[in-house]
Amino acid sequence: MKELKILAVVVFFSLLTYWLVEPYAHSQMHKHVEGHGFVYDGKADIEEAVAAAENAKKSGIKVKEAEARVEAKKAFWADVAKISKLKGDPAAGEGVYAMCAGCHMDGAVNMGGVIPPSLEKAGSLYDKNYLIALIKDPAMASNVDHKYADTMTHPMGSIKTMVTEPQQIADVVAYLKAKKVGKLETKEAFYDACGRCHAMRYAKMTQLGDTPKFKHEKDALAYQVKVLDEQDLVKAYMGKLPPDLSIIIRARSEHFLKTFVENPQSQLPGTSMPRTGLSKEGYAAVEEYLTEVGDPSKPKREAIGPWVILFFVGFTVLAYLWKKQEWRDLH
Ligand code: HEC
Ligand code: HEC
Repeated sequence: MKELKILAVVVFFSLLTYWLVEPYAHSQMHKHVEGHGFVYDGKADIEEAVAAAENAKKSGIKVKEAEARVEAKKAFWADVAKISKLKGDPAAGEGVYAMCAGCHMDGAVNMGGVIPPSLEKAGSLYDKNYLIALIKDPAMASNVDHKYADTMTHPMGSIKTMVTEPQQIADVVAYLKAKKVGKLETKEAFYDACGRCHAMRYAKMTQLGDTPKFKHEKDALAYQVKVLDEQDLVKAYMGKLPPDLSIIIRARSEHFLKTFVENPQSQLPGTSMPRTGLSKEGYAAVEEYLTEVGDPSKPKREAIGPWVILFFVGFTVLAYLWKKQEWRDLH
């Protein structure tokens, strides 16, 4: 029975490492960020602003500004909650939507740093509360207001002067939500939500979308120049070129990606990446696309996993029986 004891010791220490040591080391090296289930109620933003105001008080620097920011966030999200309770009229919203379409049209070009995304599937891709917040004040909604002295200067900031009535906001969001769009395709979800900033080299996708095939090298090079020009604009807007996301699904944990997308400031305080306001469904589609491109063999691996374990279990039993047989006469 010595073997069984050895096995028990090995199993014990493996499990100890897996369940206690590794998670402990992880928790010490990374701050734990709570997810909030793709609910956008401003709670995280207000908590962040309160913490920043407390730090400001300690250091005595820009205390008034920090306190004003807390009040602004509270008032903003309270307004969003109020608008969220209004009943929106999709038919009236279609008229308001004409203003959105002025920027968000097919073939739109770069505007203040990025190409305004298609809103074809916005009703499924984004959360309702987030859309309300975004139309009310894009910089506040995406939690990058600290970048702007006046949030009007955000590339979509002028919407604040175009859609001013709470009922108009409720109507246009109802219009987007009522649009029947069919299934959210994973690639389209990624390009609409992230593609104006992040390229996907492995899928031959840049900030301009899918890279076309060219017959002549000269045309391919001309296209490359267009891509570089676009990337320069994104870089100027964001302060740096957002990283290619081809293999991010392997580089970062599921939990990191989810909480980062919900609120980039929670994981990288001060980052210029805006919150994108995805719904649960929208995030699932984006995550699936990241997996399709970055880890295409995952479904296969997962299907084979149980069989491999079964094989090892069977093999262990056989090896044990064989060993017993061989040693029988020697003891
Ligand atoms: C003045 C041009 C302009 C108008 C008008 C405008 N948008 Fe935008 N919108 C933009 C730009 C530019 C972006 C990209 C901003 C960024 O990525 O920082 C954007 C981004 C968005 C996004 C993605 C935001 C995110 O955080 O993921 C949505 C959704 C959106 N707009 C909806 C709307 C709706 C709905 C309207 C009309 C009520 C509207 N927009 C009106 C320019 C505009
Ligand atoms: C308006 C531009 C913009 C959009 C839209 C955007 N990002 Fe980003 N993203 C950035 C920038 C800029 C950085 C670099 C952040 C930094 O280093 O501070 C970044 C960084 C990241 C990182 C790297 C974080 C890390 O440290 O590993 C991930 C992951 C990421 N983005 C995912 C996404 C996903 C998923 C989407 C779509 C749901 C998205 N981003 C949409 C601008 C954007």
